Amino acid sequence: MERIIIKGGNRLKGTIKVSGAKNAVLPILGASLLCGGESTIYNVPRLRDVEVMIELLTYLGACVHREDHQLRVDTTYVEPREIGEKLMRRMRASNLVLGPLLGRFGRVVISQPGGCNIGSRPMDLHLRGMRALGATVDEKAGFVWARTSGLVGADIHLDVPSVGATENIIMAACVARGRTTLHNAAREPEIIDLQHYLNAMGARVSGAGTGVIRIEGVDSLHGCRHEVIPDRIEAGTHLVAAAITGGDVTVENVIAEFVEPVLAKLRETGAELAVEGNAVRIRAPVRPKAVDVKTLPYPGFPTDMQPQMMALSSLAEGTSTVTETIFENRFKHVPELRRLGADISVEGRTAIIKGRETLSGASVEASDLRAGAALVLAGLAAENTTVVEKAEYLERGYERLEEKYQLLGARISRERA
Ligand code: UD1
Repeated sequence: MERIIIKGGNRLKGTIKVSGAKNAVLPILGASLLCGGESTIYNVPRLRDVEVMIELLTYLGACVHREDHQLRVDTTYVEPREIGEKLMRRMRASNLVLGPLLGRFGRVVISQPGGCNIGSRPMDLHLRGMRALGATVDEKAGFVWARTSGLVGADIHLDVPSVGATENIIMAACVARGRTTLHNAAREPEIIDLQHYLNAMGARVSGAGTGVIRIEGVDSLHGCRHEVIPDRIEAGTHLVAAAITGGDVTVENVIAEFVEPVLAKLRETGAELAVEGNAVRIRAPVRPKAVDVKTLPYPGFPTDMQPQMMALSSLAEGTSTVTETIFENRFKHVPELRRLGADISVEGRTAIIKGRETLSGASVEASDLRAGAALVLAGLAAENTTVVEKAEYLERGYERLEEKYQLLGARISRERA
């Protein structure tokens, strides 16, 4: 168990650099299983979720070698071994091996990933996609069994634009016979990055970033080199950290277009934002204005930024609302923010936040990665000392967060509980 200790009240000032995108590298590592070959992947963040994916690949027989932020992945000797509950439960994104293993080997057996802290997150759309491509899929005894004598391209319509289902379907369709057209696909930037990686492997994917993705199946794929895009949620988190402390911070290694939904909201709070190349500078007012936020699939406001935005609203002038439409159970940070003095009530999927002039430090507990980030941000702005327990959640998605914030002038440290 780890905890983060913050003595709040310092304005953040300076420059901070964003690492590679967790949600891009996870499907890319899954996609490496599609062929037997060696890929080199650059700008890979050092995160616990990435380590879990590497463990999973190694379990399947891949050789993964890390040098700092570079990974060499050799998938020559991979076999479609059954993946049990232990590996699947550690991270939902483990399900991103389904499409690649089915595509390459024609069979896969994985444990059902089960629920998680923010909602039930079923896999029905992934499985329907595999069936549409010609696989036989059974669910029994907590496992998914999928097999095929050869996938065949198809026209597929997703009920909701699920990120993971879009990725699994694209990956499997890369090696299916003929053309697949995926309608109502998720448009997240990480899917564009996956398309670039797959095409570098010899695949023929087009349309990522739009709601219609076309995949022409090819006979074989090969290893390649690829640099992962920067993490837009990490960038957004740092921008809100600056905003909540009334700071002046330049966030480097950002693709501004991909964080625009967050930039737009921050402008509404009264922050000045300037984009210069791959950097975004934020100059925040002493106190933000209240704003209304509704989470939506990209290019809407990201659910992964919702808790952080709620922390900011806790200190805003006026009443804000936050409506969560993606996950049914993503308000676990509310009681913790209340412990810091926030005035938040919840009605169904909407939180109503009456901005306070100050928050005051307390002991709080992270319930998941982004909830943990929200509590750290609130702690940066709160009076006195805030202790965030279960800080290990933060390592799933933020590389050296406290070190980065120390460099901006925050009084923050981590200790083992
Ligand atoms: C990805 C991100 C996660 C982010 C989420 C939404 C990765 C590794 N994770 O998760 O950080 O919070 O997108 O932006 O990229 N759903 C179904 N059936 C399915 C699949 C999903 O009903 O088969 C529902 C889910 O319960 C949820 C919604 O669709 O309510 C969105 O989920 P999805 O886009 O699939 O999220 P993930 O890919 O799991």
